Amino acid sequence: HGTHHINEHGHLEIGGVDTVNIKQEYGSPVYVYDVALMRERARGFQQAFEDNGMTYQVAYASKAFSCVAMSQLAKEMGLSLDVVSGGELMTASKAGFPMEKVHFHGNNKSEAEIALAIELGIGCFVIDNFHEIQLIEQQAARQQTYVEALIRTTPGIEAHTHEYISTGQEDSKFGFDLTSGQADQAIYRLQQSLSINIKGVHCHIGSQIFETSGFTMAIKKLFDQFVHWQEHLQFTPEVLNCGGGFGIRYVEGDEPLAPEQYVQDMIQSVKQEALRTGMDVPEIWIEPGRSISGDAGTTLYDVGSKKDIPGVRRYISVDGGMSDNIRPALYQAEYEGILANRGHEKADDTFSVAGKLCESGDMLIWNLPLPEVKTNDTLAVFCTGAYGYSMANNYNRLPRPPVVFAEDGESHLVVRGETYEDILQYDLSYAPAKAKTK
Ligand code: LLP
Repeated sequence: HGTHHINEHGHLEIGGVDTVNIKQEYGSPVYVYDVALMRERARGFQQAFEDNGMTYQVAYASKAFSCVAMSQLAKEMGLSLDVVSGGELMTASKAGFPMEKVHFHGNNKSEAEIALAIELGIGCFVIDNFHEIQLIEQQAARQQTYVEALIRTTPGIEAHTHEYISTGQEDSKFGFDLTSGQADQAIYRLQQSLSINIKGVHCHIGSQIFETSGFTMAIKKLFDQFVHWQEHLQFTPEVLNCGGGFGIRYVEGDEPLAPEQYVQDMIQSVKQEALRTGMDVPEIWIEPGRSISGDAGTTLYDVGSKKDIPGVRRYISVDGGMSDNIRPALYQAEYEGILANRGHEKADDTFSVAGKLCESGDMLIWNLPLPEVKTNDTLAVFCTGAYGYSMANNYNRLPRPPVVFAEDGESHLVVRGETYEDILQYDLSYAPAKAKTK
C-alpha cells in the first residue's frame, strides 16, 4: 500500500527509499513514515467534504503521533490539530502551526495548560466538565479575552470495531452526559458566560471503527438534542464535531472503509437529520488520528538471537519491543511484518517475534510467516505509525528510536534517536550530608 514496494534488490522501499539503507544510515529500531500516504489519507477526508460543498475542519489527532515535523506537515496539508496536553500544544506552537486551528481536548486540563492555550491564542476548547468551565473563565478574565468552545457530550453510543453498544447513559470519564440533563446545564451555564462562546458540540464514539452506523446513530441522537436545546435554551449548534476513530488495516481481516466513505456517510446522515428536524446543516468537524498516520508508519528492527523449541515454536528476537510499540502487550494488538532485506523470498515457516525487554509479555507478533530468518536480517513491522512513537517509553532504560520521514526518494531525520546521555540527563546524585561524614 502507499509507496511501499519491493525493489530490484528484493528490498522493501518506502517513499522511494530503500529501507535497508535507512537502517544502515539511522540505526535500528527506527520508525519510517511514508509521507505521501499521510497526504493521501488527509486529502481523502478533505476531498469528501469539499465535493459535498460542506464547511468543515479535519483536525489531526496529535496523540496518534506528534512531533514538530508532523505538525508542520499537518499545517501544510491544511489540517486543523487536536491536542490534549501542554506538551502537544507546545509542539504545535514550535512548528508554527496556526493556533486558531488548534482544538484543546482533555478531561483534566490544568490551570497552567489552560492559561498557556489562551496565551497562545488557541482556536477552540473542547470543554469536558464543569470544573473546566470555571478554570477557563478565570483565565480568560485574567487575560482580558474570551475563547471559543465546543462541549463534549457522551451520546451513549460506544463503537468497538464491529459492535455498537447503545446505552442511555454512558459510563465514561469524558464529557457531559446527555440524558441526565448535564449537557443542558452546561449549555445554560455557558450561555451566561462573558468569556466563553459556545459554538457547538463534540462526541467521540471509539477507535478503530470499520463501519459508519455508529456515527449515524450518534448523529441521530445529537439532532434529537439539538431540537430540545433549540426549544428550551434557544441554543443552535453551529458546529458538530463527530470525533475520530476511523479504522485502518493492521492485519488480514481488518476491513476499514476509505476516508472518503466515512465522511460521505457522515455528511449524508447529518443532512438527513437536518431535514428531519428542520435544523440548519452545521459545520462538520472530525478528528482522525490513526487513519492519517497509522498505516504510513513502519518500524525497522534488527534480528538478533533466535530460539527454537522443537515442535512448539520458533522465536526470533529484535532490538526493540514494548518500549517502541506497547500495543501488543497492552491491547493484544496484532501486526504483520516481512523481512525488509529479503522481500522477494517466500515464507517457509512461522516465527514469533519477541522484543528485547525483560518481560515474557513483550511479544510483538505471534506466528509470523517468514523465510528462514537469519541474525541481522531486517524485520519491518507495518502500521506502527499511530500510538507507536507517541506511546514509546524508556522501560529497561532503552533509548527511544529515531523517526524518519521518507518521500520522493529522500529520507529526512525528523526526531533523532535518544542516546544514553539523554537517558541520564534528568538523573541527579544522591549524596546526603550524613552519608558523607561516615
Ligand atoms: N478524538 C478523540 C476525542 C479521541 O479520544 C481520540 C482517540 C481521537 C480523536 C483519535 O482517534 P483515532 O482516530 O486515532 O482512532 N492508544 C490507543 C488509542 C487511544 C485512542 C484515544 N482517543 C491505541 O493504541 O489503539
